[in-house]
Formats: sequence, C-alpha cells, structure tokens
Amino acid sequence: MFETVKYLIGSTGASGFGSKSTAEEVTNTCPDLRSITAIITGATSGIGAETARVLAKRRARLVLPARNLKAAEEAKARIVSEFPESEIIVMALDLSSLSSVRNFVSEFKLLNLPLNLLINNAGKFSHEHAISEDGIEMTFATNYLGHFLLTKLLLNTMIRTAKQTGVQGRIVNVSSSIHGWFSGNMIRYIGQISRSKSQYDATRAYALSKLANVLHTKELAQRLKQVDANVTVNCVHPGIVRTRLTREREGFITDLVFFLASKLLKTIPQAAATTCYVATHPGLVNLSGNYFADCNKASTSKLGSNSNEAAKLWAASEIMVSRQAKAVFDPLNALGYHDM
Ligand SMILES: NC(=O)c1ccc[n+]([C@@H]2O[C@H](COP(=O)([O-])OP(=O)(O)OC[C@H]3O[C@@H](n4cnc5c(N)ncnc54)[C@H](OP(=O)(O)O)[C@@H]3O)[C@@H](O)[C@H]2O)c1
Repeated sequence: MFETVKYLIGSTGASGFGSKSTAEEVTNTCPDLRSITAIITGATSGIGAETARVLAKRRARLVLPARNLKAAEEAKARIVSEFPESEIIVMALDLSSLSSVRNFVSEFKLLNLPLNLLINNAGKFSHEHAISEDGIEMTFATNYLGHFLLTKLLLNTMIRTAKQTGVQGRIVNVSSSIHGWFSGNMIRYIGQISRSKSQYDATRAYALSKLANVLHTKELAQRLKQVDANVTVNCVHPGIVRTRLTREREGFITDLVFFLASKLLKTIPQAAATTCYVATHPGLVNLSGNYFADCNKASTSKLGSNSNEAAKLWAASEIMVSRQAKAVFDPLNALGYHDM
C-alpha cells in the first residue's frame, strides 16, 4: 500500500529519482556519452525509441538492430531531425531467429566498432501461440533466448572495449515486474509450450520470458565477476505504459483497461527513465546483478533470486542456442529436465 502511494505521488528513492522521473532528467548529470557506442534492441517504438532518442541527445553512437528496417530508418530519421549530429547505424536483426542473431553479430563485428553498452529492450507479448523457426515458443524466443545469444556473442567485444578504454561496459536487460507472476518449473513449461499449444497461456509465457531476463542477469553478473571482466549487467522494470506491446489486442476492452488503470500508467519518457539511469548513471559503477524499478534498486520475486534456477536456465539456454530446433528438447532431457 505504502509502495503504491509512493509510486502514485512519484516520491523519490535513494537515487534521487522516482516513478515520475523522465529519461532526460535521469541523464542530465551523466557525462557526455560521445565516446560510448551502444546497441539498443527494439528501438523502433515505445520505450526503446525513447531510450535511443535520449542517448543520442547525450551524444552516444547508436547501433539500432531491427527486424523492420523501414521502421528503424524512420526512428533514426526522427532522432536525426532533432539531433542532427547523431551517429546512428541501422542493421537487420530478428531476435526470434538464432541465425539472424548470428548474422547480426557477424555484420556488427565487421564494422570494427567498440561496444560499451548493450540494451536488451526488444520484446513481444504473443497472444496467439507461435513457434520460432528454431522450434522455441515465440515470446520466450524473442524476449529471452535471442537476447541470451546476442549477449553471449557480443561479450568478448564488450570486455575488450572495456579493457582498451578503461570505461566499464554495461548491459541492461529490460524485464518486467510481471516476472513475479510465473511460478512452477520454468524449463518444463518452456518445453511444453514449445511442443504444443495445449498448455499455452499468453500471460504465463510472457511472465516466464521476463523471469528468464531476471535470471539471465543474475547468472551473467556472477560469470562476469568470475572472469574479472570490467562489464556489469543489471535488469529493469520500466513501469507500465501503453505502447505497441499490446498491438495484437487493440480495441474497446484494451482501451477500457488502460483507461481504468490510467493513474498507474507511466508516460513513455518516464518508462525509459530506469533503463537510461541504469545504462548511464555514474553512481552505478561496479553495481551488477541487480534489479531496478523507478530508477532505484528493487527486489525480484523469490524465483528470480534463486541462483540454482539461474544456473539451470543458463545450462538449458546453452543447449537451446547450440542445437538445431528439433534436437533441442532431447538434450534437455539428458540434462535431467524430465517430464516436459
Ligand atoms: N509497455 C509496458 O507496459 C512494459 C512493461 C514492462 C516491461 N516492458 C518491456 O519493455 C520492452 C519494450 O517494450 P515496449 O512496451 O516499448 O513495446 P513496443 O512499443 O511494442 O516495442 C517493442 C520493440 O521490440 C521490437 N521487437 C519485437 N519483436 C522483435 C523481434 N523478433 N526482433 C527484433 N525486434 C523485435 C519491436 O520491433 P517491431 O517494430 O519490429 O515490432 C519494437 O521495436 C519490452 O521488453 C517489454 O517486455 C514493457
């Protein structure tokens, strides 16, 4: 109750920011980002588009990978018209396809650019059951598995950049407080909904993908620490905001729900604030493996803080990205993920 009141009045937390802070406000005191190269996924609309706009305003060089190149060029044009000196590179990437992720990383590496910042923001809420070309349920494939592989393949570049420049690299995973809605056996559920639509529940699948973002952050932070990499990883809940995430359910009911919840909704500049804060704020140096909401450290669900679950998901993800689609779930059984 107290938390809801704090949220509604926008009271600030330890960071000096709160639910009503905007991305521009939280980056006001950040250093000039001219020497920073950032990849932001999902920057064609919503939270990602505002994140890109504000980081461009702070002079970062942006790489915007997108499956819809026309929308990405339009997003770029909007930013360039506001900040003509921005350096923005648009590239092709469909996160639901592991081969597209591999192609994007190969092309990015050919550019020989440094990489200081990776913002894993793209996401979807798939109302209808769908399977990716790799045989994985579509929401999980897009929101989590594509980003898992993208991060894995870009990590050496980030670690090298941090070593060469002395500037700590940062990875920001955009999750959601809805991650707490998932309970049960994650690997079993992803196995079930990747095999058939009978157990598919769109909200549960979305919550699972966002829980996976939280656990990915936890396990990766640990691994980065073990190899003494000067790169941090944190995840964020942006807040609830009306974007194209609900595009498959536009209509009267959705309008009504958003109307009734309007007091709880953020604006897009407010929803991009936590990502921008975690990506740039000088006060967060060396902070890794944390979950942020309203620009302040927050708590994850019990499952989201479980190291065993994080390690299990990591092991399963390594298998999922290393095998061809149809072979994916047999090796998972071999690892002990039975009854899927
Ligand atoms: N809106 C909320 O209330 C809310 C709350 C909590 C968390 N989030 C999270 O915030 C993030 C941003 O969402 P948003 O609300 O800004 O939604 P949005 O406006 O729908 O933006 C989603 C972005 O992801 C991209 N995307 C979707 N599927 C993709 C794929 N297969 N490959 C590459 N890009 C893909 C979309 O590109 P296209 O133009 O190609 O569709 C778009 O740029 C998501 O991770 C979401 O889960 C949102």
